[in-house]
Amino acid sequence: MFGKKKIKPQIDQEQLELIQNAQRRVKQKKRLYFHFVFFVLGAIGLIVANLVLAVREDITPFEKPWFVSAVLIWLCLLLYHLLNVFVLNKFIGKTWEKTQLDKLVIEQKVRIEKLKNQLEKEDIHIAKSELFNAQKNTNTLSKTNTSNSQEISTKNSNLTIIVAAGEKNEIGKDNKLIWHLSDDLKRFKKLTSGHHIIMGRKTFESFPKPLPNRTHIVISRQENYQVPSGVIVVNSIEKAIEKAKNDSQAYIIGGGEIYKQALQFASKIEITRVHHTFDADTFFPEIDLTLWKETQNKFHKKDKEHDYEFSFLTYELA
Ligand SMILES: NC(=O)c1ccc[n+]([C@@H]2O[C@H](COP(=O)([O-])OP(=O)(O)OC[C@H]3O[C@@H](n4cnc5c(N)ncnc54)[C@H](OP(=O)(O)O)[C@@H]3O)[C@@H](O)[C@H]2O)c1
Repeated sequence: MFGKKKIKPQIDQEQLELIQNAQRRVKQKKRLYFHFVFFVLGAIGLIVANLVLAVREDITPFEKPWFVSAVLIWLCLLLYHLLNVFVLNKFIGKTWEKTQLDKLVIEQKVRIEKLKNQLEKEDIHIAKSELFNAQKNTNTLSKTNTSNSQEISTKNSNLTIIVAAGEKNEIGKDNKLIWHLSDDLKRFKKLTSGHHIIMGRKTFESFPKPLPNRTHIVISRQENYQVPSGVIVVNSIEKAIEKAKNDSQAYIIGGGEIYKQALQFASKIEITRVHHTFDADTFFPEIDLTLWKETQNKFHKKDKEHDYEFSFLTYELA
């Protein structure tokens, strides 16, 4: 019962591999040694056969006795063997292959981990955005009975509102935008180029000059409001829409006052939701989610050209 316990020799995988590797190397070197001995004896044998025993003395490649060529060819084989054992084996032997494979596996694992983190982060933001919309939906539902401002009957299928707004619907301050998001500006340019863009007088005045390749329609109550040639001035939103009626896709581009009035006429909203809150003096109106449904949602993460994370959201009539 209390007799000596037999101690089993414990050897881990790494040690086992080292031993196997050492055994393999010993075998390789032994084989090389035998090859060398065999070569020396063989070469002597060939010389004796050719010069002493005069075997096939008539064969003289390159005008030399044949044993010279035979010994040289054998010597090349021996050198190749030597190279294989001491040089090639180090670079492209099994151990080298395994090290490279291990390195690759580690690199792949790191990349997978990075991708996983990135995906998790994006998931959080999509979820946040959905939660944000769901909360708004609940708030708006309770108000639906008292407000019928966004009537569907007056909708124009060719009219889209385009806006960038913060998490609290902030859109501007001191008649300026509050952020610079180059991909948002690119998207704005891509969507609106070649079309009519309808805006309030203040938004028009926030541009240094009219935007190229677009027909500007400016809404103002001022009589005789002066604008550069090509810019159309009207005194109501209805007249602005009338002017753009032949455009298959006209855009309402702001600002706050015009968005409020235009919501009842548009059939689509392209909103860039900037995932941040800002100090602002102008806001986009609340979107009534009983009337509008989100049809697209594309998240854009923060990077060196974008100080904030944002999502391109599209709302269409439900
Ligand atoms: N984030 C975005 O996507 C975005 C887009 C556009 C603008 N913005 C920002 O929004 C701000 C400007 O918006 P805002 O609300 O102050 O001004 P706005 O809507 O651009 O313009 C208001 C002006 O439009 C005219 N107007 C409004 N309703 C009218 C009506 N029913 N009939 C005739 N004229 C009418 C009036 O011009 P008169 O005073 O001449 O009569 C009024 O002062 C700026 O900060 C700008 O940077 C942000």
